[in-house]
Amino acid sequence: MTDSVAQAGAYLLHGGVVAIPTETVYGLAADARRPAAVARIFEVKGRPLGHPLIVHTADAHSAQRWAGTLTTHAVTLMEACWPGPLTVLVERAPHVLDIVTGGRSTVGLRVPAHPLTAELLRTIGTGVAAPSANRFGRVSPTTARHVRDDLGDDVDLVLDGGPCDVGVESTIVDCTGDRAQILRSGGIPDDEIRELLSGAVTNASDGPSRAPGMLSSHYAPRCHVVLAESAADAAELVQQHRGDAGLMARLLDCSTDLSAVARTLYADLRAADRDGVDVLVALLPPKAGLGYAIRDRLMKASADRPTD
Ligand code: TXA
Ligand code: MG
Repeated sequence: MTDSVAQAGAYLLHGGVVAIPTETVYGLAADARRPAAVARIFEVKGRPLGHPLIVHTADAHSAQRWAGTLTTHAVTLMEACWPGPLTVLVERAPHVLDIVTGGRSTVGLRVPAHPLTAELLRTIGTGVAAPSANRFGRVSPTTARHVRDDLGDDVDLVLDGGPCDVGVESTIVDCTGDRAQILRSGGIPDDEIRELLSGAVTNASDGPSRAPGMLSSHYAPRCHVVLAESAADAAELVQQHRGDAGLMARLLDCSTDLSAVARTLYADLRAADRDGVDVLVALLPPKAGLGYAIRDRLMKASADRPTD
């Protein structure tokens, strides 16, 4: 075991808060059995209490300790996608803390695919509650450096696992009903979820979301994000904004090579802020594969809404 994993484990088991690498984004973790440690996550993030957290475990077997009865949909997705960028919402086990679930009857479970965090979770032998390791409303971190820039000394340790491979958060699927519901598009494409569940899936936009607060979440850089569906529109928008009052406008082409786009999306949003860009014109990807998640994040980045 590396020293840093051992140290991270020791902090967690003593009620500390540690930033952990995952394949999606960095998480801000605390021992999910300790209410005071979990409360510190909310404090550090500046996130309102009542927003539920995902419990991360080393494997599916450990994940089940946090769950009540599992539906067939949940089992199918867990078997097909874990370890990986999928969160399932399932009925909670009675011992799961209210501060973790926001007092709900469900719990979000995920087995992340990152070797350091897998080792950490095996070492501590319990689950960690972890949201993305950014301040409330800001862009999620995909490098250890991003976490330090955002949270500084407010965390006990940042476990550096390099840049995140996927770059956008996990796909969240509510598996409690007869039809599963995709609550957040993410690292596992929506179409793959539909295929795995033979179509017994509703999209969040098809009806009222079962997760209040979810639709208000956003991933906002400071610059103004403007969306374009075609390359011609994007080029015109850049010209327009440059012409108006000499704003600094930049094009972010998200239309091809979607894995690479997702991997660097949040770093690109941060870079735009760092470089003093006023207007970032994002050329949207098609609605397929990782395009669902990328479109969702860009739309939230461009919207002026309450935050998560
Ligand atoms: O990829 C990810 O999912 C990352 C990494 C760190 O695992 N985590 C992440 O956590 O994105 P967070 O807290 O930033 O986003 C999780 C979303 C929140 O909008 C939360 O409200 C929702 O999942 N959520 C978690 N548990 C829930 C539950 N029991 N019921 C409804 N929504 C839930
Ligand atoms: Mg988040």
